[in-house]
Amino acid sequence: MNDNKLVDRYGRQLNYLRLSVTDRCNFRCYYCMPEEGIDFASRKELMSFDEMLRLSSVFCQLGISKIRITGGEPFVRNGIMPFLDELRQLDGLNEITVTSNGTLSSRYRKQLLGMGIKKINISLDSLDRERFHRITRRDSFEEVYQSIFDLLNDGFEVKLNCVVASNKNIQDIIPFIELTRDQALSVRFLEEMPFNGTDGKQPLFEWDHKRIADHIHQYYPDTVRLISEANSTSVNYQVPGHRGSFGIIPSFSRTFCGTCNRVRLSATGELRTCLYGPPVANLRDLLRSGASSANVANEILVAVANRERDGHAAELASQGNIHTSMSVLGG
Ligand code: 5AD
Ligand code: SF4
Repeated sequence: MNDNKLVDRYGRQLNYLRLSVTDRCNFRCYYCMPEEGIDFASRKELMSFDEMLRLSSVFCQLGISKIRITGGEPFVRNGIMPFLDELRQLDGLNEITVTSNGTLSSRYRKQLLGMGIKKINISLDSLDRERFHRITRRDSFEEVYQSIFDLLNDGFEVKLNCVVASNKNIQDIIPFIELTRDQALSVRFLEEMPFNGTDGKQPLFEWDHKRIADHIHQYYPDTVRLISEANSTSVNYQVPGHRGSFGIIPSFSRTFCGTCNRVRLSATGELRTCLYGPPVANLRDLLRSGASSANVANEILVAVANRERDGHAAELASQGNIHTSMSVLGG
């Protein structure tokens, strides 16, 4: 029955592809890459948009119905809008969503809406200009903050991703909840993960999902738990009377792996069936060697069949090599 679908040996069906269109970014968030950046892929190492379309089409034939466009910062890649316009026409694809740092996305608002792309995640770790600058190593708070309201006014569904870490932005947690009082957006607090593009700098990891939840509940004791979608990675809550909501994502604790429906493709064609695992195939190389769509589909099916049970098992398979920058992995 599931012959041509992406089902792993634990019975999880994958229907959600996260596609990184570039490893480049105009920010240098401390948890993602060092100040000097990383060894970015050269132009010919990057997949062309035609290659991405061909692979996406194979994924959709295998049951992928949702694609999230990520980076790096997806809007730094030239030609992204015409690409999205073609991507959305793929058979079987129901939804395209985007993750952006909010610096460039705003100028494409109307075009995105015109293409039916109305869900956008913006990375925002602080509501304070100086802390924002320290975290991203760029002084762009005002621009990003304004872009959020522009997106909301235009009718986008906006989620803010906030990576929580000691000495960085604990003071921002409660102001973010306050922001949900009048704004119909969702703030999601993420545990910091080790994907920082260094040779082994470990996050302090003092703020896990439970501590974040306890901290918030102290200030808002009547917070209610919301019912979440089946494959949600966030546990979602609302303060009664607030227009918006918030969620907590145990991205390092990895408590959600049992229902994970995602697969990732990096901008250089690396396929990952888990963020914490090694690349399990290079689909760009396969295409460039002249493989047919059927060959590619087969390679994906085999990789998915061999998927690890959870992020802890995948980390073991990575043999300690888990510091690849999130901008390479595709957030
Ligand atoms: N730990 C946690 N979250 C991260 N992100 C990027 N790197 C890390 C990390 N090391 C987040 C970004 C973005 C999302 C795609 O992933 O803030 O919102
Ligand atoms: Fe850029 Fe996102 Fe990495 Fe920050 S986390 S440097 S915005 S890719």
